[in-house]
Amino acid sequence: MPNKYEPWIMMKNKRPLYFTLATAGIIVVVLFILWAGNDFQALRSTEPPMQIRYDMQYQTKVGAQQPSTFFADRKTMRDHVPGTVPRNGSLYPYTTFQEAEAELTNPVAGNRDVLARGKNRFNAFCSPCHSVSGQDTTEVVRKGLQKPPNLAGANAKSYSDAHIFHVISAGQNIMPGYADKIKPEDRWAIVNYVRELQKAPLKYPENAPAATAAVTDTASAARATGGN
Ligand code: HEC
Repeated sequence: MPNKYEPWIMMKNKRPLYFTLATAGIIVVVLFILWAGNDFQALRSTEPPMQIRYDMQYQTKVGAQQPSTFFADRKTMRDHVPGTVPRNGSLYPYTTFQEAEAELTNPVAGNRDVLARGKNRFNAFCSPCHSVSGQDTTEVVRKGLQKPPNLAGANAKSYSDAHIFHVISAGQNIMPGYADKIKPEDRWAIVNYVRELQKAPLKYPENAPAATAAVTDTASAARATGGN
């Protein structure tokens, strides 16, 4: 008959002390081995700790710009279905800059209030190729893209606002159009910001006078000779 004043744990567990100690010791050693196997993570890793449950950190999905085996053309980012317009989007109707110049005038010409927005959109959409100054060489050019013309160069300076708006909307040669990605009012804000960038002094001398073809040919020639 157990003594009813003994603590309940002693009543249930009559095992000798060394047995308890050995069990605790084994547990400690096993945990230590597991921890060592995990490279003592919590002590010196800046990585997130070992994942017992993945939650949503790892997902079966393809990210932007990654290839996909799901579509025949292996592109993850899908092109618009021909003949469709994005929801809340609009079609850009002009195919030549002359058409655009005949019909469009800059609704925010000279308005400095839109410059902050223009800078924001320019840095997001244009600077990867044109650099934040519009003049410098960017990483994508070092990786092989044809060097875009200097936006502060004589040629781009000679473009009308509507012409720059047209280039942004419809593209020019290998530069893609952004009509489906940038709202018209933001495109005009970018035009104003490009005008602002053009006030900066030329960083690089212009060796060929104006014409687009000449500007881009110079760039290609420079790349061919490793001049970039
Ligand atoms: C994917 C790279 C890329 C992006 C992004 C890009 N451009 Fe271009 N851009 C080019 C290339 C390349 C050319 C030269 C095309 C050619 O050979 O006529 C060019 C040409 C131009 C021209 C004509 C300059 C001239 O002297 O002929 C203007 C203006 C221009 N881009 C403005 C912009 C603006 C504003 C944006 C952002 C909305 C932008 N570009 C985004 C690559 C790009």
